[in-house]
Amino acid sequence: MTNKPASKPTAKPKNPCFSSGPCAKRPGWTAAEALKDALAGRSHRSAEGKKRIVDVVERQRKILGIPADYKMAIVPASDTGAFEMALWSMLGERPVDVFAWENFGEEWLKDITKQLKLKDARTFTAPYGELPDLSQANADHDIVFTWNGTTGGVRVPDGDWIKADRKGLTFCDATSGVFAYDLPWAKLDVTTWSFQKVLGGEAAHGMLVLSPRAVERLVSFKPDRPLPKIFRMTANGKFSEGIFAGETINTPSMLVIEDALDALKWAEGAGGLKGLEKRVEANYKALEGWVAQTPWIEFLPDVPAVRSKTSVCLKITDAAFLGLADDAKQDFIKAMGKLLDKEQAAYDIAGHKAAPAGLRIWCGATVEASDIAALGPWLDWAFAEVKAGLAKAAA
Ligand SMILES: Cc1ncc(COP(=O)(O)O)c(C=O)c1O
Repeated sequence: MTNKPASKPTAKPKNPCFSSGPCAKRPGWTAAEALKDALAGRSHRSAEGKKRIVDVVERQRKILGIPADYKMAIVPASDTGAFEMALWSMLGERPVDVFAWENFGEEWLKDITKQLKLKDARTFTAPYGELPDLSQANADHDIVFTWNGTTGGVRVPDGDWIKADRKGLTFCDATSGVFAYDLPWAKLDVTTWSFQKVLGGEAAHGMLVLSPRAVERLVSFKPDRPLPKIFRMTANGKFSEGIFAGETINTPSMLVIEDALDALKWAEGAGGLKGLEKRVEANYKALEGWVAQTPWIEFLPDVPAVRSKTSVCLKITDAAFLGLADDAKQDFIKAMGKLLDKEQAAYDIAGHKAAPAGLRIWCGATVEASDIAALGPWLDWAFAEVKAGLAKAAA
């Protein structure tokens, strides 16, 4: 480990956007160019409107290798809308095992235990930076989990813990993992995401993907609870095929659709899923290199195999920082963020408000490895500045 000088760097990341959502737009994106052919002012039910919606869905199926017999829909309210419509529509038929280890998983756990009030729910939780014991999953139960815990920087490393011959359904919130990792579709029955993460698209609409067994659940199980229109995927006991063929439940934003098309065309040009995975890996490696040579920082998760490669969460290990009270730690991080923001060197690098005070750097596919490399010295500088301020205040 070397102690690097903390003088103000000169070279800035070309794109200072390191937020974990909404994430950096694809390299070279401009609104004028990406949205120039948007179907603005036209009906989403027109032949052209529907064609574009189906195009967004089918390009994703192709890039991600989603089986032809899985149903895919664009739904309201982003990833949250997609995940909650699935929980409300399908849970309760059998016991459910819920795995949570950061803010979003904990939100789904609250939905299940406090809102849906499902009696037969087993919960498996772990603190920030760790993964719960996935081997506890019972294949006769439904299983609810997040593929990539965006706020804790911990992901499931694979789907090997999910049984191929399970009786229950798996519900996977994949929003910050999809397009970055090769997901095992045969193990996933209900999968959701929004465009705003690895694709650098816009929020507001979610993707919902259902395996044939999930569709079977929808038609065979009628939950004993009211379902608002935007959650309903059946009508008169039949599966609403139209929703999964470009006929959205309500009006989508045609700008979001156009932007998603732009992002998907970029992803195809970048080599599809393999190309996106490579970009993520290069970004992660660039950050890992900086962490390895920086004495004041470590990954939040101790176990390398579960570290997220997209929403990378870091903890400060410097004694001066560790000696601070929790509030003062948060203030320290905020002060670093403010300095970097003012310099236009890095935006949105503070960890999520629900996580322990630390940094979170988005390494998804739309970020350039050269920008991650340029970011390191700026983080060193901001850390040294804020730490020096602490020493001054104490003197
Ligand atoms: C793992 C995870 N789930 C759900 C959400 C919520 O996504 P949205 O705001 O698109 O509904 C996020 C957003 O950061 C997330 O990271």
